Amino acid sequence: MEKLKIAGGYPLKGTVRISGAKNSAVALIPATILAESPVTIEGLPEISDVEILKDLLEEIGGKVEITNDEMTVDPSTMISMPLPNGKVKKLRASYYLMGAMLGRFKKAVIGLPGGCHLGPRPIDQHIKGFEALGAQITNEQGAIYLRADELRGARIYLDVVSVGATINIMLAAVRAKGRTIIENAAKEPEIIDVATLLTNMGAKIKGAGTDVIRIDGVDTLHGCRHTIIPDRIEAGTYMILGAAVGEGVLIDNVIPQHLESLIAKLREMGVHIESGDDQVFVDGGAAKLKAVDIKTLVYPGFPTDLQQPFTTLLTKAAGSSVVTDTIYGARFKHIDELRRMNANIKVEGRSAIINGPIQLQGAKVKASDLRAGAALFIAGLMAEGITEVTGLEHIDRGYSNLVEKLNGLGATVWREALTEEEVEQLKNT
Ligand code: EPU
Repeated sequence: MEKLKIAGGYPLKGTVRISGAKNSAVALIPATILAESPVTIEGLPEISDVEILKDLLEEIGGKVEITNDEMTVDPSTMISMPLPNGKVKKLRASYYLMGAMLGRFKKAVIGLPGGCHLGPRPIDQHIKGFEALGAQITNEQGAIYLRADELRGARIYLDVVSVGATINIMLAAVRAKGRTIIENAAKEPEIIDVATLLTNMGAKIKGAGTDVIRIDGVDTLHGCRHTIIPDRIEAGTYMILGAAVGEGVLIDNVIPQHLESLIAKLREMGVHIESGDDQVFVDGGAAKLKAVDIKTLVYPGFPTDLQQPFTTLLTKAAGSSVVTDTIYGARFKHIDELRRMNANIKVEGRSAIINGPIQLQGAKVKASDLRAGAALFIAGLMAEGITEVTGLEHIDRGYSNLVEKLNGLGATVWREALTEEEVEQLKNT
């Protein structure tokens, strides 16, 4: 096990290239199960979730090859192997195996998903969708059993706007008989990316990216080649970093439209931003930052995944800012850690109230989830002195080549093995 060490206070400048989107990748890889011939996905991020999904596809008999950032999956030899335990529990997105295996084999057994602890994360809308398509579903000892004699298209209204449920229902419905209509669907760019892959595989999908998606089922799907969209959350994290400690950071390989809510908020704070076709330039250097309030919402609102890193930036702003998370009301585990670094923040219900400006101080802190990790490595770069971040396994789930990318911008960041004593301490917390 390792920790991340950060020597704070160095200004960052230069260019950083954004990797493919994690939250697309974790759906695109299971989607390959639905084809009958090889599918190639280009531009995958180098993150642990991709490795785990590769292993899971191999467990069910798929042949998977990764070269550089490209994965080719031959799904023709896959079987409907039950996956009640093991690696399936290591990532929440393994729930996409349910939709994909149900679509291809009409049956699946999948251990209940793990992933970041952000408070309750039910999957009732996924289940409701599968049932509407004709599947029988039971939950036995922590694994979901799904079986259908036949999948039939249906009209499904989501009670909660859910990225996961929208994609999962799409995966099952592309090979169902007849038409499926998903109403109150989520509109995130990752949904369009998955729909684009499925369409290239021969699926018939209309309306992805709007709140009504229509799918006409087909009997078989074939292989194709697909390039993944850039990771808007990774890009947003580097934009926040550029605002916090940057003296001119160019974020390359980004779709600026995907980050309009963040760009608007950064400008409101007084950060200088220029956006081009696939690049965004951020200069926080000289600006005195103003306090702003944010409220997370479904896309195109302010993303919950950027709420935690944005909170760190707000410690530098003059005045009182309020951050409210309407998606995950308990996504505030980073706050105690930021307080150890001298931040003045209190949590009231679904909101964090940040008073600034303050100078963060280096400390030993722990990332409890992926984006808490982002909040903490940004804090480390802003702080005086050395910061040590443990819980790196969370950060490795979502940030490709983090140390290389940060040092490429002029940061002083490195990984170090944990001592035996530190491993023991972590086990006891
Ligand atoms: N919800 C339900 N029932 C369901 C599904 C969701 O009540 O059946 C609720 C959730 O509890 C939450 C809200 O609906 O309050 C939204 O959840 P959603 O299903 O949209 O989230 P998700 O698909 O599980 C994805 C991302 C998350 C991101 C959320 C919100 C993936 C693999 N994960 O999760 O990403 O926070 O959408 O945008 O795509 C991350 O990248 O750090 C991360 C956690």
